[in-house]
Amino acid sequence: MPRRSVAHDEWLRRGRSVLGSSLTSFVLPDSHAILLSHGLGSRVVDVDGREYIDYVLGSGPLILGHAHPAIVEAVSRQAALGSTFYTLTPAAIELAEEIVRAVPCAEVVKFVSSGSEATFHALRIARTYTGRTKVLKFEGGFHGTHDYALMSTFPPEPSDYPVPRPDSAGIPAQVAETVLVSRWNDLELTRTLIEQHADELAAVICEPLQRALPPALGFLSGLRELTQQHGILLIFDEVVTGFRLAYGGAQERYGVVPDLATFGKALSGGYPLAAVAGRREIMSVTDFGRRARGEPLAYLSGTLNGNPLAAAAGLATLAVLRQPGVYEQLYRITERLKAGLRELAAARGIPLQVIGDGPLFQVVFAEEEPRDYSELLRADRDRAVRFGLACLERGLFVNPGEKCYVSLAHSDEDVERTLEVFAAALDAILAEPSLLR
Ligand SMILES: Cc1ncc(COP(=O)(O)O)c(C=O)c1O
Repeated sequence: MPRRSVAHDEWLRRGRSVLGSSLTSFVLPDSHAILLSHGLGSRVVDVDGREYIDYVLGSGPLILGHAHPAIVEAVSRQAALGSTFYTLTPAAIELAEEIVRAVPCAEVVKFVSSGSEATFHALRIARTYTGRTKVLKFEGGFHGTHDYALMSTFPPEPSDYPVPRPDSAGIPAQVAETVLVSRWNDLELTRTLIEQHADELAAVICEPLQRALPPALGFLSGLRELTQQHGILLIFDEVVTGFRLAYGGAQERYGVVPDLATFGKALSGGYPLAAVAGRREIMSVTDFGRRARGEPLAYLSGTLNGNPLAAAAGLATLAVLRQPGVYEQLYRITERLKAGLRELAAARGIPLQVIGDGPLFQVVFAEEEPRDYSELLRADRDRAVRFGLACLERGLFVNPGEKCYVSLAHSDEDVERTLEVFAAALDAILAEPSLLR
């Protein structure tokens, strides 16, 4: 890693002292810790002035890149008019209307502040609507940090389906008893589990593109059919895929319409806002009038729900995403990166797969493309992390071993520079003695 200034290290020391090791699960080793000062377009700059091409993009939200002028302008305008009201505003209404126009399953929208809240409430809505308790999720699927979500997301070994393995300490055992886990892309196992537990299942929740593992042909439509047969709600967690794989999200891209969907990240272009959307009849269980009528209410509220600054950022983001050619550009740039990296690996005889769909990808060191979490577990993760660290050392801001996000700000010049770094990073890991065995 290039040398860092005394000031950089002092910031890190102060941060550690009051914030612990990190803000999130994104933890770089001390040797590679980076403290960012600002971002513009596809680039971020650290406190020493060193520039990186950014493939973290705030963990996905920055689909237009950093500090896009339309978002800066919209947020500044709204900030001068007030930042929060705890009631309806034109910005929140217009954003909800736009989600309804864009997303096939959306008739009614509820705003929250994070993707975790969105999936938490989607599950609560499903339980209220169906009067059932259990939910089924997929091994390796991430739905945020609440107790029902952190089940078999990162198990160190293949699962004992359908028994979940909590990913965090501090989750009551009783919560685990309400979650079933199936294998991604395994329709037969999922069918068996759904048929065995049909009467107690409120929902099946999945990421329609699970992390970077695409759905097998017929898998999502199979889930749709099975859930419909048994009166179970199908929830697509589109926090990553929403407005990224297509304007209408994964449900548009894959042509399968769920009952409920959750959104976050790209929806509000880097400002804190997320949403649950779905059919009117289902979403109506969140209507506070139900309490007075003595009907079951799925309680959904939050101080900053539909925050006008974030809603203004969302409207500005979606206006850019609606312009012709935007998704073609996002796909084209990503495809160049993926194809270029595959060629570099092939020329060096390195078994490497670039998985994902749309403007996101993940580098996996394996002979074959993994189709589910257990196949991903067999890939060489250490090598993926070392590759990521080698990229960081050479000026790419990445989360080693994890997904890379691409934005509209990434240019063909960025692609060329990135491929040069990828080549040098592959050479660097090839030269490591441990890999010559
Ligand atoms: C698919 C998916 N769902 C939910 C979440 C949780 O979102 P948040 O971090 O905003 O709580 C994430 C976050 O990465 C995600 O990738």
